[in-house]
Amino acid sequence: MSDTKENSEILYATTPSARLNKVIPGGAHTYSRGDDQYPSNAPQILERGKGSYVWTPEGQQFLDYGMALRAVSIGYAEPSINAAAIRGLEAGNSLTRASMIELEAAERLVSMIDSVDMVKFTKNGSTATSAAVKLARAYTGRTLIARCAQHPFFSYDDWFIGSTPITKGIPQETINQTKTFGYNDIDSLKTLIAEYPDKIACVILEPASMECPATIAPPMGNGKPRNFLQEVEDVCNTHGIVFILDETITGFRWDMKGAQHTYGVKPDLCTFGKAMANGFSVAAVAGRREIMELGSIDKPGKERLFLLSTTHGAEMSGLAAFLATMNFLEENKVIPHLWSYGEALSKAINQVSAAHGLSNHFSAAGPAANPYYATVKDDGTPWFELRTLFAQEMIKQGILMPWLAFSYRHGNDELERTRVALDHAMHICARAVNEGMDKYLAGPAIKPVFRKYN
Ligand SMILES: Cc1ncc(COP(=O)(O)O)c(C=O)c1O
Repeated sequence: MSDTKENSEILYATTPSARLNKVIPGGAHTYSRGDDQYPSNAPQILERGKGSYVWTPEGQQFLDYGMALRAVSIGYAEPSINAAAIRGLEAGNSLTRASMIELEAAERLVSMIDSVDMVKFTKNGSTATSAAVKLARAYTGRTLIARCAQHPFFSYDDWFIGSTPITKGIPQETINQTKTFGYNDIDSLKTLIAEYPDKIACVILEPASMECPATIAPPMGNGKPRNFLQEVEDVCNTHGIVFILDETITGFRWDMKGAQHTYGVKPDLCTFGKAMANGFSVAAVAGRREIMELGSIDKPGKERLFLLSTTHGAEMSGLAAFLATMNFLEENKVIPHLWSYGEALSKAINQVSAAHGLSNHFSAAGPAANPYYATVKDDGTPWFELRTLFAQEMIKQGILMPWLAFSYRHGNDELERTRVALDHAMHICARAVNEGMDKYLAGPAIKPVFRKYN
């Protein structure tokens, strides 16, 4: 920049938030990190994290329940994971041909997940799910995508964003190609398939998000009960549709073999990401050989599919962190810890909420390894002001709780500290429910990410 006055304005004259929004559209590289997702007293910028805590540049410490948008499940700056990543760096980080670490990481993932014969690593969950969709279209020769309506996010790519209210910049043709069905509503999927016979290339959903798969009783009491995901698998098999499970969040939180193992299904393709390398950028599309090998080059004469070819897809620091993360999860029983911490946390939230007479407005629910808290008005619609006030009051107690993500480094001390803070925050929330939110809310209410207008 040539203008030094403007330069110094950017550097010194404004808040971190103003500086961020001046040079980064949205003020961060994920919309859920943006100002509109936090109360006005939230830290605008962070400097570092360790274990379950984060710090501002001024040294203010927060117990964190955001955990880098669920990218960290062991804890920030975990020494053995960092040491592995450094070994990857010292080995060159990115070489001219495939690396030893790349082979080891691929063989490890294939050996862990029963449905997986081949894997391609990438840097973000979005590129993994988009690659799965492309594979499904190529494999079936069909165009339409059926995605689960209740699951909040699959990709920043047009095939998904076109099915949200934020359609600006997306061709209508692309918007028309993604259809939705309901979670735990197999009839809605069957109806969609009947409406578009032989047109749907893939069904994509998370194994579980706010809800787990419901058990469906066998017809006339004959046979074993099945769950919703098993029904989805059957329907996909019957209609030649590729069954894609997005395990970006559930992957190594439900079970080392994925939530697909927990729920007894074998997807054709699955995707992983988020915490698979404890905060390092690693994601993957994986699955059945017959579909994955559409991207292979060792099938002479076969028409080629260009599958995830990126310069940094197999960065050695990240893949070394992935291998070390898998070791750590196995050796330290991280997954059982996540389930028990989540259960205790949800219980604490509901107990404190009830003690303050807030049960109708504030509750925690969902699978214990990945629960959520909801704030609702009398009519059951989301109450953003209450959510904002709660987050504001938790921040006053030194706790950042935009949602409920926790790690192996959230222990008893953190749980106890959280209980005390919950009591304070719910006390204020109860007063505001009776006396009016404006009296207690210091700034604007947070807004949903998927809204059409700012
Ligand atoms: C279920 C799911 N799939 C895919 C993605 C996209 O991952 P990324 O942000 O790494 O592109 C996300 C991100 O929130 C997600 O939650």
